[in-house]
Amino acid sequence: MRAVSSISSQSRRVEPAVRISGRVVVPGDKSVSHRYALLGGLAHGRTQLDNFAPGSDCAATLACLAALGVAISRDGARVELDGLGLGGLRPPARALDASNSGSTMRMLAGVLAGHPFASEITGDASLCRRPMRRVVVPLERMGARVDHHDGCPPLRIHGGALRGIEFHPEVASAQVKSAVLLAGLHASGTTTVVEPAATRDHTERALAAFGAPPRVEGRAVTVQGGATLTARSLLVPGDASSAAFWAVAAAGVPGSSIEMAGVGLNPSRIAFLDILARAGAEVRSTRDPAGDGGEAAEPLGTIRVSHATLGDVEIAPDEVPGLIDELPALAALATFGGRIRVRGAAELRAKESDRISALVAGLRALGADADEWPDGFDVRATRRLTGGQADACGDHRLAMAFAIAALGATAPSVIHGADAVDVSYPGFFEILGTIRAEGR
Ligand code: S3P
Repeated sequence: MRAVSSISSQSRRVEPAVRISGRVVVPGDKSVSHRYALLGGLAHGRTQLDNFAPGSDCAATLACLAALGVAISRDGARVELDGLGLGGLRPPARALDASNSGSTMRMLAGVLAGHPFASEITGDASLCRRPMRRVVVPLERMGARVDHHDGCPPLRIHGGALRGIEFHPEVASAQVKSAVLLAGLHASGTTTVVEPAATRDHTERALAAFGAPPRVEGRAVTVQGGATLTARSLLVPGDASSAAFWAVAAAGVPGSSIEMAGVGLNPSRIAFLDILARAGAEVRSTRDPAGDGGEAAEPLGTIRVSHATLGDVEIAPDEVPGLIDELPALAALATFGGRIRVRGAAELRAKESDRISALVAGLRALGADADEWPDGFDVRATRRLTGGQADACGDHRLAMAFAIAALGATAPSVIHGADAVDVSYPGFFEILGTIRAEGR
Protein backbone atom coordinates (compact mmCIF):
# COMPACT_ATOMS: atom_id res chain seq x y z
CA MET A 1 0.00 0.00 0.00
CA ARG A 2 1.27 3.50 -0.76
CA ALA A 3 2.36 5.44 2.31
CA VAL A 4 0.38 8.56 1.55
CA SER A 5 -2.53 8.18 -0.80
CA SER A 6 -5.03 10.64 -2.10
CA ILE A 7 -8.66 9.83 -1.33
CA SER A 8 -10.01 13.03 -2.83
CA SER A 9 -8.39 16.34 -3.54
CA GLN A 10 -9.32 17.34 -0.01
CA SER A 11 -8.39 14.21 1.96
CA ARG A 12 -5.11 12.36 2.41
CA ARG A 13 -4.50 9.01 3.99
CA VAL A 14 -1.34 8.79 6.09
CA GLU A 15 0.14 5.45 7.13
CA PRO A 16 2.19 5.02 10.29
CA ALA A 17 5.95 5.22 9.73
CA VAL A 18 8.69 3.10 11.26
CA ARG A 19 11.34 5.71 10.50
CA ILE A 20 11.91 9.10 8.87
CA SER A 21 15.22 9.69 7.18
CA GLY A 22 16.87 11.63 4.42
CA ARG A 23 17.40 15.14 3.17
CA VAL A 24 14.74 17.68 2.37
CA VAL A 25 14.98 21.03 0.65
CA VAL A 26 12.11 23.05 2.03
CA PRO A 27 10.44 25.68 -0.18
CA GLY A 28 11.21 29.40 0.03
CA ASP A 29 10.10 31.30 3.09
CA LYS A 30 6.57 32.67 2.91
CA SER A 31 7.12 35.64 5.23
CA VAL A 32 10.29 36.75 3.45
CA SER A 33 8.77 36.27 -0.03
CA HIS A 34 5.82 38.56 0.79
CA ARG A 35 8.14 41.31 1.99
CA TYR A 36 10.62 41.09 -0.88
CA ALA A 37 7.75 41.18 -3.39
CA LEU A 38 6.09 44.20 -1.74
CA LEU A 39 9.33 46.15 -1.45
CA GLY A 40 10.33 45.12 -4.99
CA GLY A 41 7.05 46.62 -6.18
CA LEU A 42 7.89 49.89 -4.41
CA ALA A 43 11.55 50.02 -5.45
CA HIS A 44 13.09 51.68 -8.48
CA GLY A 45 14.25 49.18 -11.07
CA ARG A 46 14.04 45.42 -11.55
CA THR A 47 14.11 43.16 -8.52
CA GLN A 48 14.98 39.51 -8.99
CA LEU A 49 13.92 37.04 -6.32
CA ASP A 50 15.14 33.45 -6.27
CA ASN A 51 13.61 30.56 -4.32
CA PHE A 52 10.36 32.54 -4.05
CA ALA A 53 7.76 30.72 -1.94
CA PRO A 54 5.64 28.39 -4.10
CA GLY A 55 2.41 28.54 -2.09
CA SER A 56 -0.85 30.28 -2.89
CA ASP A 57 -0.35 32.94 -0.17
CA CYS A 58 2.63 34.50 -1.91
CA ALA A 59 0.99 34.04 -5.31
CA ALA A 60 -1.82 36.22 -3.92
CA THR A 61 0.66 38.96 -3.05
CA LEU A 62 2.09 38.85 -6.59
CA ALA A 63 -1.40 38.93 -8.11
CA CYS A 64 -2.34 41.96 -6.00
CA LEU A 65 0.86 43.77 -7.01
CA ALA A 66 0.18 42.96 -10.67
CA ALA A 67 -3.35 44.39 -10.31
CA LEU A 68 -1.71 47.53 -8.90
CA GLY A 69 0.39 47.98 -12.03
CA VAL A 70 3.64 46.17 -11.19
CA ALA A 71 5.02 44.18 -14.14
CA ILE A 72 5.86 40.72 -12.81
CA SER A 73 7.28 37.66 -14.50
CA ARG A 74 7.60 34.30 -12.85
CA ASP A 75 9.52 31.24 -13.90
CA GLY A 76 9.16 28.60 -11.20
CA ALA A 77 10.89 29.86 -8.10
CA ARG A 78 12.34 32.95 -9.83
CA VAL A 79 10.26 36.12 -9.77
CA GLU A 80 11.13 39.43 -11.39
CA LEU A 81 9.31 42.65 -10.60
CA ASP A 82 9.65 46.08 -12.20
CA GLY A 83 9.10 48.36 -9.24
CA LEU A 84 7.07 51.53 -9.60
CA GLY A 85 8.81 53.51 -6.85
CA LEU A 86 7.42 54.60 -3.51
CA GLY A 87 3.81 55.78 -3.90
CA GLY A 88 3.83 54.67 -7.55
CA LEU A 89 1.22 51.90 -7.46
CA ARG A 90 -1.81 52.48 -9.71
CA PRO A 91 -5.51 52.26 -8.80
CA PRO A 92 -6.71 48.68 -9.30
CA ALA A 93 -9.61 47.99 -11.65
CA ARG A 94 -11.33 45.70 -9.15
CA ALA A 95 -11.10 44.40 -5.59
CA LEU A 96 -7.73 42.88 -4.70
CA ASP A 97 -7.90 39.23 -3.59
CA ALA A 98 -5.58 38.28 -0.72
CA SER A 99 -7.02 34.75 -0.80
CA ASN A 100 -6.13 33.00 2.51
CA SER A 101 -3.26 35.33 3.35
CA GLY A 102 -3.40 37.58 6.41
CA SER A 103 0.12 38.80 5.65
CA THR A 104 -0.95 39.97 2.19
CA MET A 105 -4.00 41.80 3.46
CA ARG A 106 -2.38 43.50 6.45
CA MET A 107 0.91 44.48 4.85
CA LEU A 108 -0.70 45.60 1.60
CA ALA A 109 -3.17 47.67 3.62
CA GLY A 110 -0.18 49.57 5.02
CA VAL A 111 1.18 50.18 1.52
CA LEU A 112 -2.18 51.23 0.07
CA ALA A 113 -2.87 53.61 2.95
CA GLY A 114 -0.06 55.73 1.50
CA HIS A 115 -1.47 55.85 -2.04
CA PRO A 116 -3.93 58.58 -3.04
CA PHE A 117 -6.76 56.35 -4.28
CA ALA A 118 -9.45 54.05 -2.93
CA SER A 119 -8.93 50.31 -3.12
CA GLU A 120 -10.51 47.23 -1.66
CA ILE A 121 -8.82 44.08 -0.35
CA THR A 122 -10.87 40.96 0.16
CA GLY A 123 -10.09 37.29 0.73
CA ASP A 124 -11.51 33.82 1.27
CA ALA A 125 -14.00 32.88 3.98
CA SER A 126 -11.24 32.21 6.54
CA LEU A 127 -9.49 35.53 5.92
CA CYS A 128 -12.82 37.38 6.04
CA ARG A 129 -13.21 36.19 9.65
CA ARG A 130 -9.81 37.46 10.81
CA PRO A 131 -9.29 40.59 12.92
CA MET A 132 -8.19 43.70 11.03
CA ARG A 133 -8.75 46.48 13.60
CA ARG A 134 -5.16 45.94 14.63
CA VAL A 135 -4.10 47.55 11.32
CA VAL A 136 -7.13 49.79 10.76
CA VAL A 137 -6.54 51.74 13.99
CA PRO A 138 -2.93 52.80 13.32
CA LEU A 139 -3.51 53.43 9.62
CA GLU A 140 -6.42 55.75 10.45
CA ARG A 141 -4.26 57.53 13.03
CA MET A 142 -1.78 58.15 10.24
CA GLY A 143 -4.50 59.79 8.13
CA ALA A 144 -6.02 57.03 5.97
CA ARG A 145 -9.66 55.96 6.17
CA VAL A 146 -10.34 52.25 6.22
CA ASP A 147 -13.87 50.83 5.96
CA HIS A 148 -14.34 47.32 7.34
CA HIS A 149 -17.07 44.95 8.47
CA ASP A 150 -17.10 44.98 12.23
CA GLY A 151 -13.32 44.75 12.27
CA CYS A 152 -13.15 42.12 9.52
CA PRO A 153 -12.44 42.17 5.76
CA PRO A 154 -13.11 43.26 3.12
CA LEU A 155 -11.13 46.42 3.81
CA ARG A 156 -11.81 49.51 1.71
CA ILE A 157 -8.81 51.77 1.98
CA HIS A 158 -8.98 55.47 1.22
CA GLY A 159 -5.32 56.35 1.14
CA GLY A 160 -3.55 59.64 0.90
CA ALA A 161 -1.19 61.95 2.70
CA LEU A 162 -0.04 60.16 5.85
CA ARG A 163 1.75 61.54 8.88
CA GLY A 164 4.22 59.54 10.93
CA ILE A 165 3.11 58.24 14.33
CA GLU A 166 4.51 56.39 17.31
CA PHE A 167 2.44 53.26 17.68
CA HIS A 168 2.32 50.76 20.54
CA PRO A 169 0.37 47.71 19.28
CA GLU A 170 -1.53 45.69 21.88
CA VAL A 171 -0.71 42.38 20.22
CA ALA A 172 2.77 41.18 19.36
CA SER A 173 2.32 40.85 15.60
CA ALA A 174 4.93 41.12 12.87
CA GLN A 175 2.16 41.71 10.36
CA VAL A 176 0.90 44.73 12.28
CA LYS A 177 4.41 46.07 12.81
CA SER A 178 5.11 45.64 9.10
CA ALA A 179 1.86 47.27 7.97
CA VAL A 180 2.62 50.38 10.02
CA LEU A 181 6.26 50.54 8.91
CA LEU A 182 5.26 50.17 5.25
CA ALA A 183 2.73 52.97 5.68
CA GLY A 184 5.46 54.94 7.45
CA LEU A 185 7.62 54.79 4.32
CA HIS A 186 4.88 56.82 2.60
CA ALA A 187 4.29 59.22 5.54
CA SER A 188 5.74 62.58 6.46
CA GLY A 189 8.31 62.49 9.27
CA THR A 190 9.18 59.34 11.13
CA THR A 191 7.04 56.36 12.12
CA THR A 192 7.92 54.24 15.14
CA VAL A 193 6.43 50.93 16.22
CA VAL A 194 7.15 49.84 19.78
CA GLU A 195 6.30 46.15 20.12
CA PRO A 196 4.98 44.56 23.32
CA ALA A 197 7.25 41.56 22.57
CA ALA A 198 9.80 40.96 19.84
CA THR A 199 8.38 39.43 16.65
CA ARG A 200 10.06 38.25 13.44
CA ASP A 201 12.23 40.98 11.97
CA HIS A 202 12.04 40.20 8.26
CA THR A 203 10.63 43.61 7.37
CA GLU A 204 13.49 45.38 9.11
CA ARG A 205 16.03 43.21 7.28
CA ALA A 206 14.21 43.57 3.96
CA LEU A 207 14.10 47.35 4.30
CA ALA A 208 17.84 47.34 4.86
CA ALA A 209 18.32 45.08 1.84
CA PHE A 210 16.38 47.52 -0.35
CA GLY A 211 18.50 50.44 0.89
CA ALA A 212 16.24 51.95 3.57
CA PRO A 213 17.47 50.50 6.89
CA PRO A 214 15.18 51.29 9.82
CA ARG A 215 16.51 52.42 13.19
CA VAL A 216 16.10 49.62 15.72
CA GLU A 217 16.43 50.41 19.44
CA GLY A 218 15.29 47.53 21.59
CA ARG A 219 11.66 46.90 20.69
CA ALA A 220 11.27 50.25 18.88
CA VAL A 221 11.61 50.29 15.10
CA THR A 222 11.62 53.61 13.23
CA VAL A 223 11.40 54.36 9.54
CA GLN A 224 11.84 57.67 7.80
CA GLY A 225 9.13 58.67 5.35
CA GLY A 226 10.09 59.15 1.71
CA ALA A 227 13.09 56.83 1.65
CA THR A 228 14.16 55.62 -1.78
CA LEU A 229 14.08 51.85 -2.27
CA THR A 230 16.55 50.34 -4.70
CA ALA A 231 15.81 47.16 -6.63
CA ARG A 232 17.85 44.12 -5.61
CA SER A 233 18.61 40.52 -6.49
CA LEU A 234 17.80 38.45 -3.43
CA LEU A 235 17.70 34.81 -2.45
CA VAL A 236 14.75 33.78 -0.30
CA PRO A 237 15.89 31.30 2.37
CA GLY A 238 14.10 27.99 2.92
CA ASP A 239 11.07 28.34 5.17
CA ALA A 240 11.94 27.48 8.78
CA SER A 241 8.24 27.04 9.60
CA SER A 242 7.96 24.37 6.91
CA ALA A 243 11.18 22.77 8.13
CA ALA A 244 9.64 22.54 11.61
CA PHE A 245 7.27 19.77 10.48
CA TRP A 246 10.10 17.52 9.26
CA ALA A 247 12.14 18.38 12.34
CA VAL A 248 9.26 17.23 14.55
CA ALA A 249 8.77 14.06 12.51
CA ALA A 250 12.46 13.16 12.90
CA ALA A 251 12.45 14.04 16.60
CA GLY A 252 9.32 11.99 17.23
CA VAL A 253 9.61 8.78 15.21
CA PRO A 254 12.18 6.39 16.79
CA GLY A 255 15.36 5.84 14.80
CA SER A 256 14.77 8.89 12.60
CA SER A 257 16.97 11.72 11.43
CA ILE A 258 16.57 14.46 8.86
CA GLU A 259 18.84 17.03 7.27
CA MET A 260 17.63 20.26 5.70
CA ALA A 261 19.99 22.63 3.87
CA GLY A 262 19.36 26.22 2.83
CA VAL A 263 16.91 26.90 5.64
CA GLY A 264 16.48 30.41 7.01
CA LEU A 265 18.20 30.66 10.39
CA ASN A 266 16.89 34.08 11.37
CA PRO A 267 16.94 33.93 15.19
CA SER A 268 13.41 35.34 15.33
CA ARG A 269 12.15 32.21 13.53
CA ILE A 270 14.04 29.23 14.93
CA ALA A 271 13.04 29.14 18.59
CA PHE A 272 11.36 25.80 17.80
CA LEU A 273 14.83 24.24 17.58
CA ASP A 274 15.42 25.17 21.23
CA ILE A 275 12.09 23.60 22.16
CA LEU A 276 12.99 20.39 20.32
CA ALA A 277 16.31 20.31 22.16
CA ARG A 278 14.56 21.04 25.47
CA ALA A 279 12.25 18.09 24.77
CA GLY A 280 15.34 15.89 24.38
CA ALA A 281 15.78 15.65 20.59
CA GLU A 282 19.23 15.92 19.03
CA VAL A 283 19.34 19.22 17.17
CA ARG A 284 22.18 20.85 15.26
CA SER A 285 22.16 23.92 13.10
CA THR A 286 25.12 25.26 11.17
CA ARG A 287 25.10 28.62 9.50
CA ASP A 288 26.17 28.70 5.89
CA PRO A 289 28.63 31.58 5.43
CA ALA A 290 28.51 31.41 1.63
CA GLY A 291 24.75 31.75 1.59
CA ASP A 292 24.78 34.85 3.70
CA GLY A 293 24.18 37.92 1.62
CA GLY A 294 25.80 40.15 4.26
CA GLU A 295 24.27 42.40 6.89
CA ALA A 296 21.06 43.08 5.09
CA ALA A 297 20.01 39.63 3.97
CA GLU A 298 18.67 36.68 5.90
CA PRO A 299 21.02 34.10 7.47
CA LEU A 300 20.62 30.53 6.26
CA GLY A 301 22.20 27.16 6.87
CA THR A 302 21.61 23.48 7.59
CA ILE A 303 19.41 21.94 10.27
CA ARG A 304 19.84 18.34 11.43
CA VAL A 305 17.42 16.71 13.84
CA SER A 306 17.47 13.15 15.20
CA HIS A 307 15.18 11.22 17.46
CA ALA A 308 15.81 10.77 21.17
CA THR A 309 13.49 9.92 24.05
CA LEU A 310 11.21 12.90 24.54
CA GLY A 311 10.39 14.62 27.82
CA ASP A 312 8.01 17.35 28.98
CA VAL A 313 8.19 20.94 27.77
CA GLU A 314 6.39 24.01 28.94
CA ILE A 315 6.08 27.01 26.64
CA ALA A 316 5.94 30.24 28.61
CA PRO A 317 3.77 33.12 27.35
CA ASP A 318 6.80 35.24 26.50
CA GLU A 319 8.11 32.49 24.20
CA VAL A 320 4.91 32.39 22.15
CA PRO A 321 5.64 35.19 19.60
CA GLY A 322 8.83 33.40 18.54
CA LEU A 323 6.96 30.10 18.06
CA ILE A 324 3.60 31.30 16.83
CA ASP A 325 3.58 29.31 13.58
CA GLU A 326 5.36 26.26 15.02
CA LEU A 327 2.96 25.54 17.89
CA PRO A 328 0.82 23.11 15.83
CA ALA A 329 3.98 21.15 14.92
CA LEU A 330 5.13 21.19 18.55
CA ALA A 331 1.72 19.91 19.64
CA ALA A 332 2.24 17.00 17.24
CA LEU A 333 5.65 16.38 18.85
CA ALA A 334 3.99 15.72 22.20
CA THR A 335 1.95 12.87 20.71
CA PHE A 336 5.24 10.93 20.35
CA GLY A 337 6.53 11.36 23.90
CA GLY A 338 6.47 13.62 26.94
CA ARG A 339 3.99 16.45 27.27
CA ILE A 340 3.62 20.01 26.04
CA ARG A 341 1.89 22.77 27.91
CA VAL A 342 1.27 26.07 26.10
CA ARG A 343 -0.23 29.21 27.65
CA GLY A 344 -0.42 32.86 26.62
CA ALA A 345 -1.18 31.85 23.04
CA ALA A 346 -4.73 33.20 22.57
CA GLU A 347 -3.50 34.72 19.27
CA LEU A 348 -3.67 31.19 17.86
CA ARG A 349 -7.45 31.59 17.78
CA ALA A 350 -7.07 34.42 15.22
CA LYS A 351 -5.07 32.44 12.64
CA GLU A 352 -6.24 30.66 9.47
CA SER A 353 -8.48 28.64 11.80
CA ASP A 354 -9.06 28.76 15.53
CA ARG A 355 -5.75 26.98 16.03
CA ILE A 356 -6.49 26.05 19.63
CA SER A 357 -9.83 24.33 19.27
CA ALA A 358 -9.21 22.90 15.78
CA LEU A 359 -5.77 21.62 16.83
CA VAL A 360 -7.05 19.91 19.98
CA ALA A 361 -10.09 18.49 18.15
CA GLY A 362 -7.94 17.08 15.34
CA LEU A 363 -5.34 15.53 17.64
CA ARG A 364 -8.06 13.99 19.78
CA ALA A 365 -9.66 12.56 16.63
CA LEU A 366 -6.34 10.79 16.01
CA GLY A 367 -6.43 9.38 19.54
CA ALA A 368 -4.38 11.97 21.44
CA ASP A 369 -4.75 13.02 25.04
CA ALA A 370 -5.19 16.77 24.51
CA ASP A 371 -6.95 19.61 26.31
CA GLU A 372 -8.02 23.04 25.19
CA TRP A 373 -7.48 26.15 27.31
CA PRO A 374 -8.68 29.68 26.58
CA ASP A 375 -5.11 30.74 25.77
CA GLY A 376 -3.36 27.48 24.97
CA PHE A 377 -3.42 23.70 25.09
CA ASP A 378 -1.94 20.62 26.73
CA VAL A 379 -0.97 17.49 24.80
CA ARG A 380 0.33 14.40 26.60
CA ALA A 381 1.73 11.20 25.13
CA THR A 382 -0.07 9.02 27.64
CA ARG A 383 -0.91 6.53 24.91
CA ARG A 384 0.11 5.88 21.32
CA LEU A 385 -2.22 7.44 18.77
CA THR A 386 -4.81 5.07 17.35
CA GLY A 387 -5.14 6.94 14.05
CA GLY A 388 -8.45 8.33 12.92
CA GLN A 389 -9.93 11.13 10.84
CA ALA A 390 -8.80 14.68 11.53
CA ASP A 391 -10.19 17.84 9.95
CA ALA A 392 -7.58 20.49 9.08
CA CYS A 393 -10.40 23.08 8.96
CA GLY A 394 -8.83 24.62 5.84
CA ASP A 395 -5.65 25.43 7.77
CA HIS A 396 -2.32 24.51 6.14
CA ARG A 397 -0.37 24.22 9.37
CA LEU A 398 -3.00 21.96 10.96
CA ALA A 399 -3.04 19.68 7.91
CA MET A 400 0.73 19.25 8.23
CA ALA A 401 0.69 18.88 12.03
CA PHE A 402 -1.96 16.14 11.83
CA ALA A 403 -0.04 14.34 9.08
CA ILE A 404 3.11 14.32 11.21
CA ALA A 405 1.24 13.12 14.31
CA ALA A 406 -0.37 10.38 12.21
CA LEU A 407 3.09 8.91 11.49
CA GLY A 408 3.24 7.71 15.07
CA ALA A 409 -0.19 6.03 15.15
CA THR A 410 -0.92 2.32 15.31
CA ALA A 411 -3.25 2.48 12.28
CA PRO A 412 -3.70 4.73 9.22
CA SER A 413 -5.31 8.16 9.46
CA VAL A 414 -7.18 10.40 7.08
CA ILE A 415 -6.57 14.14 7.05
CA HIS A 416 -9.55 16.06 5.69
CA GLY A 417 -8.95 19.45 4.12
CA ALA A 418 -5.38 18.36 3.38
CA ASP A 419 -5.20 20.46 0.22
CA ALA A 420 -4.76 23.47 2.50
CA VAL A 421 -1.03 22.64 2.49
CA ASP A 422 -0.86 24.42 -0.88
CA VAL A 423 -1.02 27.73 1.02
CA SER A 424 2.59 27.36 2.15
CA TYR A 425 3.89 23.94 1.11
CA PRO A 426 2.65 22.49 -2.18
CA GLY A 427 4.11 18.99 -2.46
CA PHE A 428 4.22 18.41 1.30
CA PHE A 429 2.58 14.98 1.07
CA GLU A 430 4.80 13.93 -1.84
CA ILE A 431 7.92 14.80 0.20
CA LEU A 432 6.48 12.87 3.14
CA GLY A 433 6.27 9.84 0.87
CA THR A 434 9.99 10.07 0.06
CA ILE A 435 11.45 10.32 3.56
CA ARG A 436 9.52 7.67 5.41
CA ALA A 437 9.79 3.98 5.90
CA GLU A 438 6.40 2.36 6.42
CA GLY A 439 5.13 0.07 9.11
CA ARG A 440 2.68 -0.28 11.92
C1 S3P B 1 3.72 36.54 9.85
C2 S3P B 1 3.53 36.82 11.15
C3 S3P B 1 2.71 35.98 12.04
C4 S3P B 1 2.54 34.58 11.48
C5 S3P B 1 2.16 34.58 10.04
C6 S3P B 1 3.18 35.32 9.21
C7 S3P B 1 4.50 37.48 9.04
O1 S3P B 1 1.44 36.57 12.18
O2 S3P B 1 1.59 33.88 12.23
O3 S3P B 1 2.05 33.26 9.57
O4 S3P B 1 4.92 37.11 7.92
O5 S3P B 1 4.71 38.59 9.49
P1 S3P B 1 1.19 37.74 13.25
O6 S3P B 1 2.18 38.76 12.94
O7 S3P B 1 -0.17 38.27 13.02
O8 S3P B 1 1.34 37.06 14.58
